[in-house]
Amino acid sequence: MTSSAPPSRPPRAELHVHLEGTLEPELAFELAARNGVRLPYDGPDALRAAYDFADLGSFLELYTANMAVLRTAADFADLTRAYLRRAARAGVRHAEITVDPQAHLARGVPLEDVVDGVAEVLARSEPDHGISTLLVAAFHRDEPAAGALEVLDRLLAMDAPIVGIGLDNAETGYPPGLFTDLYARAEAAGLRRTAHAGEEGPASNVRDALDLLHAERIDHGIAVVQDPDLLARVAAEQVPFTVCPVSNVRLRAVPSLAEHPLPAMMAAGMLVSVHSDDPPYFDAYVDDVDDAVTAAFGHTRDQRAALAAASFRGSFLPPDRAAAHL
Ligand code: HPA
Ligand code: ZN
Repeated sequence: MTSSAPPSRPPRAELHVHLEGTLEPELAFELAARNGVRLPYDGPDALRAAYDFADLGSFLELYTANMAVLRTAADFADLTRAYLRRAARAGVRHAEITVDPQAHLARGVPLEDVVDGVAEVLARSEPDHGISTLLVAAFHRDEPAAGALEVLDRLLAMDAPIVGIGLDNAETGYPPGLFTDLYARAEAAGLRRTAHAGEEGPASNVRDALDLLHAERIDHGIAVVQDPDLLARVAAEQVPFTVCPVSNVRLRAVPSLAEHPLPAMMAAGMLVSVHSDDPPYFDAYVDDVDDAVTAAFGHTRDQRAALAAASFRGSFLPPDRAAAHL
């Protein structure tokens, strides 16, 4: 999708974006050359052409394979800078960026290099890009919880500049209840808590993320519409849901944008905002997602403004700083 910024685009926050999922094919090849890593594609166009996914699993396979090019703190800094440049053009004023430490530790990249590379760029995101930023460390649902706990303890010990934790990767077969200790540790340490739930899995995963993990925010959560009681509850409690409609279509969680449950979530009075997830993989940064949603549902200016306002309300910013954006 192309992205020109119409003047009417309201300022917004990006709350659901995976740093590793912002790796553009061109940067992937640049980093591969720098690090002597071979990517099994003839070039960026051939890699981009492979971005045709059958489901979450087939996406995660390619997304994880591409991380092989990320080796040094400088690589993580370059990746973060490239994302912020593009996000600024999308009208993003505040970004809560998720990073997956386990994905890099598994490849032998020191945790300090990941955190330092990202943090160095985020520390200057306001003066350099006009975007305030917060960093979320997400853990892999499809790996043992004990390993996640160990990584969280290391992040806390090194005083990593993270605002909170998340939970991502494969959902089917890995219910939230496996991670109660991890979330309890995070809560005790004063960290904010979000979790992917109800993306490819059932509504019960959303309920369990709230009740067992004390998640304050839900990433995706589209299965909530299958459970009327839960839908009424999350609307009453104004639990923020970061929904990624283009991602859901590209990973075939829903057949088409027209059939996406976003309108039902909005009609139920939920605090829902729309986000990008992994922009180059789904050919849509958050401005493209906004435009696709507007076109699919015929949203009015007021509805666009409501979604943009919800993106700040659902953020982990202190309430006065979130309100300053409204
Ligand atoms: N779901 C789960 N894990 C992920 C996703 C997603 O949409 N994107 C990157 N990691
Ligand atoms: Zn995600």
